[in-house]
Amino acid sequence: MSGNTRGQKDSRDSVDMIDRRVFERRRQDVMQLMGDGIAVIATAPERIRNRDVHYRFRPDSDFFYLTHFPEPEAVAVLCPGREQGEFILFCRERDPERETWDGRRAGLQGAVELFDANDAFPITDIGEILPGLLENRSKVFCNVGSYPDFDMKLLGWVNEVKAKTRAGVNAPNELVDLTHILHELRLIKQTDEVKVMKHAARVSAAAHRRAMQVCRPGMMEYELHAELEYAFKKGGSAYPAYPPIVAGGANACVLHYIDNNDELVAGQLVLIDAGAEIDCYAADITRTFPINGKFSPEQRAIYEIVLAAQTAAIEKAQAGCHWNEPHDAAVRILVQGLIDEGLLQGGVDELIENKSYRRFYMHRTGHWLGMDVHDVGDYKVEGEWRELEPGMTFTVEPGLYIPGDDDIDARWREIGVRIEDDVLINRNGNTILTKDAPKTIGEIEALMQ
Ligand code: GLY
Ligand code: MN
Ligand code: MN
Repeated sequence: MSGNTRGQKDSRDSVDMIDRRVFERRRQDVMQLMGDGIAVIATAPERIRNRDVHYRFRPDSDFFYLTHFPEPEAVAVLCPGREQGEFILFCRERDPERETWDGRRAGLQGAVELFDANDAFPITDIGEILPGLLENRSKVFCNVGSYPDFDMKLLGWVNEVKAKTRAGVNAPNELVDLTHILHELRLIKQTDEVKVMKHAARVSAAAHRRAMQVCRPGMMEYELHAELEYAFKKGGSAYPAYPPIVAGGANACVLHYIDNNDELVAGQLVLIDAGAEIDCYAADITRTFPINGKFSPEQRAIYEIVLAAQTAAIEKAQAGCHWNEPHDAAVRILVQGLIDEGLLQGGVDELIENKSYRRFYMHRTGHWLGMDVHDVGDYKVEGEWRELEPGMTFTVEPGLYIPGDDDIDARWREIGVRIEDDVLINRNGNTILTKDAPKTIGEIEALMQ
């Protein structure tokens, strides 16, 4: 995200950042779909963590997609056809005293010069200015439901316009959810977005390599977590895209384990699910490797099944395949592997049909990936799984999680493995964005030597 909002050197111009003209094009694309409507899009509110301490601010993804504006307390307004300019940004004014405490602000001039607003007004004046902009617009497009407090204010401003109808002013008579329009746009990544996602993937893969290299029995999970965050920050990521999972031994079978405070024990595996966020784009990688650098025969067996499942799923990550084909392919290989190792009894079709494999594989094989780690976009269209198209990015992340139950042969108990990569659909095939993170047993053991 742009750290420098003063304009001497705009950090948004660095190699892997998105060109500012891209944001202008996006606003134009959205306005094309709005007729004589108006769009009012708020960024995320700041949230208090505890007394005097806020959570680190992260902009709303939809707002950021249209503006690249990184500050809190901002509202973007798109007014197609407005003579004085179509893009208005309400934001905080410059304030030397506040900036001494909280950091630099773009201010109204920065909103215009750095973020291409045609007009910028103080956010504190929005109640006086916005109702006038709503006059004689038929529809208001907004991110309905994202921030209920803001929705209430917006309804209040619409009501102010309605109160003036006897004076001949037409008030908007439709509130339209802008998110679906935006999310369909966000689902297909543009060239500049792919560049940023590749950057996030590279930084994240380097962090996973670092974790493999420094891992030793007797370390604590949080020490590996620290190595990951060190590598993220070194790579220019302000924060992880989600709380990293560093799960040794049986902790790998807790899918959302984030305590990361157990000892890493020789003879066990550690599962790391961690990805960096760069300029509001996420990477999402999982690797599982032996704490002492050498897979045991049982760990190897489970790992090879998961890897084969992932390979089969990635083969189905092709334009023209539908969303569920990678998942179906992965499940088939996982079930066959569980049968071969005696962990399930029966035929593949029957075990898929009766879902008994879910004891060992209880999540889906992936999700859209982009500005949000579980990114936006519909998975089904008119009741059918969506067809994959060039520009879509998603994760492929099969796993097996063997519980510690008495009825399971002791040698398999509490082994948890997941392998997760980020995939971009191309016109011909796909690109694995996260290929720099070692994945085969040979590559992992060699790196850990
Ligand atoms: N890291 C979240 C996920 O893998 O879906
Ligand atoms: Mn994921
Ligand atoms: Mn993940």
